[in-house]
Amino acid sequence: MDHHRQPIVAGNWKMNGTVPFARELTRSLRDGLTGQTDTEIVLCPPFTALDAVARELEGSTLLLGAQNLSERPAGAFTGEIAAEQLASLQVRYVIVGHSERRQYHQESDALVARKAAAAFAAGLTPIVCLGETLEEREAGNTEQIVGRQLTGSLAGLAAEQIVQCVLAYEPVWAIGTGKTASAAQAQSVHAFLRARLTENHGLETAAAVRIQYGGSVKPDNARELLTQPDVDGALVGGASLKADSFSAIIRHSA
Ligand code: 13P
Repeated sequence: MDHHRQPIVAGNWKMNGTVPFARELTRSLRDGLTGQTDTEIVLCPPFTALDAVARELEGSTLLLGAQNLSERPAGAFTGEIAAEQLASLQVRYVIVGHSERRQYHQESDALVARKAAAAFAAGLTPIVCLGETLEEREAGNTEQIVGRQLTGSLAGLAAEQIVQCVLAYEPVWAIGTGKTASAAQAQSVHAFLRARLTENHGLETAAAVRIQYGGSVKPDNARELLTQPDVDGALVGGASLKADSFSAIIRHSA
């Protein structure tokens, strides 16, 4: 059984950047990174820039991701975006259950699980986010919270889908705050998640699922985080908006 997990580093641009900005950033990343690394690299621009970024990425090894999708396949849902529509723009990955969506859009574990299923139905791979708040960590509830999020956010997926999922552990208190989890804190939660995956889905699946760390990942802390045994990549926010910092993080990932 091969337990090698290909590192995966994704840039979550969040609600930043116009189309010209997205084109420019994508060109710099593409020219600097294509074929340079064994790490899977995913750019997740806003919906409005997906098409422009897809065009810039043609012929490169960088992949396209979206930041959200509807749990429904199509229909009268004004303002929503369906998985099939993303797939038609060359999108391969989609972030689901980011803490900003859980917090500001009341996304529950059950909804996140339906979004993950909708992604798979259109051939997309979900990046399923979870993580505790500062209050939950200080109360000693981190494992209880992320354990419940893990089970709930993957509910109803088939075994062959679970194995393909990418998980992203993003402690809410580390997002956009400049406070990174220490490498030991990250490793401890990642190991817990892998143990819970083993309980729920078996050793082979648990050994194959990639778990990214997210929360103030920067070039100067990336190496320590990314060399932890259960940290298989990073989900990068702020530092993914500059070609040099995102590229530096990727160079620390392989
Ligand atoms: P920052 O890297 O800006 O802390 O954001 C992390 C994040 O939320 C990525 O999804």
